[in-house]
Amino acid sequence: MKKLNVGMIGYGFMGRTHTNAHRQVNAFFDIPFQPILKAVAGRRQDAVREFAARWGYESWVTDWRALVERKDIDLVDICVPNNLHAEIAVAAAQAGKMILCEKPLALDVEQGRRMVAAVDKAGVPNLVSFNYRRVPAVTFAKMLIDEGKLGRIFHYRANFLQDWTISPDVPQGGTATWRLDVAAAGSGVTGDLLAHCIDTALWHNGPITRVNAMTETFVKERMHADTGKPQPVGIDDACTFFCRFANGSLGNFEATRYARGHKALYTFEINGEHASIRWDLHDLHRLEWFSHGDEGKLRGWRSIHVTDHGGEQPYMDHWWVPGLQIGYAESFVHQLADFLVAIAAGKPCAPTFRDALQTQKVCAAVLKSAAAGAWVDLPKE
Ligand SMILES: NC(=O)c1ccc[n+]([C@@H]2O[C@H](COP(=O)([O-])OP(=O)(O)OC[C@H]3O[C@@H](n4cnc5c(N)ncnc54)[C@H](O)[C@@H]3O)[C@@H](O)[C@H]2O)c1
Repeated sequence: MKKLNVGMIGYGFMGRTHTNAHRQVNAFFDIPFQPILKAVAGRRQDAVREFAARWGYESWVTDWRALVERKDIDLVDICVPNNLHAEIAVAAAQAGKMILCEKPLALDVEQGRRMVAAVDKAGVPNLVSFNYRRVPAVTFAKMLIDEGKLGRIFHYRANFLQDWTISPDVPQGGTATWRLDVAAAGSGVTGDLLAHCIDTALWHNGPITRVNAMTETFVKERMHADTGKPQPVGIDDACTFFCRFANGSLGNFEATRYARGHKALYTFEINGEHASIRWDLHDLHRLEWFSHGDEGKLRGWRSIHVTDHGGEQPYMDHWWVPGLQIGYAESFVHQLADFLVAIAAGKPCAPTFRDALQTQKVCAAVLKSAAAGAWVDLPKE
């Protein structure tokens, strides 16, 4: 097994999920690399030192540039707010590093294009962390679609509902609440939540050709954590859009942080000619299935516990025994295992930067449509 020196940038929510994956992956997957927690970068010396000690990093730095320049780092793992992705990824590509970058790819399409050009030019492996693809039940949905079990697809419906920014006292800027600051986030729920739904939808159901969206910012002014002063809010608090897919199906998407009672309710439902499936993040190990082919009197939704071994249900062979489920954190382990296996084979691992640029383009079209109050066509690739 070859050692793979990891340089982690950021030690917040995603810094923890990715570090956990680097620590777990060899225990559960036979892969040709052994991630070594070489260095972590953060801005505050006390906090980054504490994180390095707690999670077992060999060293820490307070400037991400120092990490990217280090000769002993093989893979740069970008777990910082969206406004830093492009600059770090381009620098990492120029330094010849493999790159695992959190979603969304960038603040906008122009930045995304620069990132794609940089990894293409450097020829470095790259992956964007749309981790929900690697929740076994979500991957299983893709397998069923590809096997033709749903037949022709008519509808793709996805929601991502939260309720944590309803209070006008939630600030913009700062740890975690950088999501409410348009300069750090690029957009609101569109880039943060819908980007996940769009990535999964493009993977399940193919390209989106047209969108028609509306957005709303319910709280127009919030205190900024950096200045301590109230500032206009530039993000979308809620976004709903319709779309058409290239395969002729219709899409319906909604994301909000104002759905009282919902913490992180990511759901999708796909209706096909022969069958329908639906999935719910709060019950993430189950895939709901309805088949019109069932005997009429017994027809109804069934709930498949996606934990079987034997290869028919993805990833689960690597974990416990059938019937015992895994959770959110393991999707990051799967993502890393797939990435490292692909690197060893010299193959790309989806979603690459180029794949994630498609999601970025759909997000941009959604925001453009909402601003214009009109349909927006996605350019043909
Ligand atoms: N895949 C997912 O499901 C998922 C979930 C949450 C967040 N994300 C994405 O992950 C990224 C990080 O989000 P998070 O929730 O971990 O945020 P967070 O606020 O919890 O952590 C951000 C980290 O970045 C650090 N940071 C900020 N500026 C920095 C700088 N200049 N140099 C070094 N470190 C800096 C902060 O100190 C903090 O450690 C975002 O792009 C977000 O969209 C993805």
